Amino acid sequence: MKFSDIRQLVQVKAPVVSRQRRVLANAYNVAEFRAAARRVLPAGIFDYLDGGSEDEVTLRRNREVFGAWGLMPSWGPVSGPDTSTSLLGRRSALPVMLTPTGATRLFHPEGELAVAEGAAAAGIPYGLAGMSTVAMESIAERFPDLDRWFNFGLSRDADVRDEKLARCKAAGFNTLIVGVDTRALGSRERDLRNGFTAPPSLTLSTLVDIASRPGWWANFLRAEGLSFPNLSPLGSNPTVTPSMWQQILGHSDSSSGWAELEALREVWDGKIVLKGCVNPADVARAASIGLDAVQLSNHGGRQLDHMLSPMEVLQESRQRAGSALEIFVDSGIRRGSDVVKAIALGADGCAIGRPYLYGLVAAGSAGVSRIIEIFGEELRRTMTLVGVSTVAELKSRGSEIVRDLRHAAEAGAEAPARAKEAPLLTTN
Ligand SMILES: Cc1cc2nc3c(=O)[nH]c(=O)nc-3n(C[C@H](O)[C@H](O)[C@H](O)COP(=O)(O)O)c2cc1C
Repeated sequence: MKFSDIRQLVQVKAPVVSRQRRVLANAYNVAEFRAAARRVLPAGIFDYLDGGSEDEVTLRRNREVFGAWGLMPSWGPVSGPDTSTSLLGRRSALPVMLTPTGATRLFHPEGELAVAEGAAAAGIPYGLAGMSTVAMESIAERFPDLDRWFNFGLSRDADVRDEKLARCKAAGFNTLIVGVDTRALGSRERDLRNGFTAPPSLTLSTLVDIASRPGWWANFLRAEGLSFPNLSPLGSNPTVTPSMWQQILGHSDSSSGWAELEALREVWDGKIVLKGCVNPADVARAASIGLDAVQLSNHGGRQLDHMLSPMEVLQESRQRAGSALEIFVDSGIRRGSDVVKAIALGADGCAIGRPYLYGLVAAGSAGVSRIIEIFGEELRRTMTLVGVSTVAELKSRGSEIVRDLRHAAEAGAEAPARAKEAPLLTTN
């Protein structure tokens, strides 16, 4: 064989020099972006991003739970498929949204602006955290077409509430995400062990971190100091001191409840999403007071350890709420097949937290875009392989293509006796 023949068979890829470009070229899934993010961040910051509370039982279960369902493709023609859907009345390119994560500039100097850029380019919603390190007005100005949601903290003081609402409205944040799972801060023991403080303080272990991750430290020190412009009154933007950090991280208004939520419903004419419950009774109550959606979530396993995983209560939640509200699911969504399972079992959409942060850390806004693209590719492939053409079809035919493996035997789905010896049929 001549060299020119071999040349035709072998694609020679030029070596990729920049670290970011190398990751973008070589990371094929969320797990590989996670590994790349780990190589960039100081250990204490990575653990803050990645870790869960106490024994991390819930954190692990958020992934394991997806194994409880198997996919059962149905044979038939598929066109497209079309992954677009409606989320709270607006078209989204995917049934996937980026959900709030606070203090994003801790992970990358461009922080929330880079995340918003990825969401805007992809045409999916972005929920900005109350503890965002970029002002909501800056996001609105840079990305006027972005579907902008805001993580709204309930307050018993109506004046404080109304001032915040006016600010959201003026900046075009028409959907409020009200979190209900931070009445106390979960005990994230990795952070305690690492002596994690935000902003990071100089200790012996930070100095060791600096030596091992000089690139991240150089970026962090060059960037503007961290601040939380959405928490302070408009116009004031103080740099947050360590003691303020402690307050922000540890404090949320645990005295607010359904009464404040009902009052919010009265005064807010935009959409309201209740985020952070896994109790179907709460979902039914949210529907009864006219909320627009519930985001089943255990905060990615960062709050109450042993809390149920959203997937474990999804079907019951849908049964209780009927079609009175939309149901979103977060915590542990890492693959397009996870999205397919969630929608087939009754969700309208899925939200991701850590995955886009991994992308951000590894490659800035291009990394966020690549993560969204991966979800899109995996979703399209999975939809094609299971045999559905649209998200609406996935919702309506979900029970035909997803089987609960815990009850598979009851459903008469016993594995064939000779299955182990059956030849592997591989076509493509
Ligand atoms: C670093 C980090 C910060 C977070 N900050 C917030 C926040 O400010 N408000 C909030 O409602 N949820 C916050 N969350 C939880 C996410 O909104 C979401 O529920 C969770 O990340 C979903 O799980 P996943 O990371 O497995 O996708 C945070 C999560 C992470 C990882």
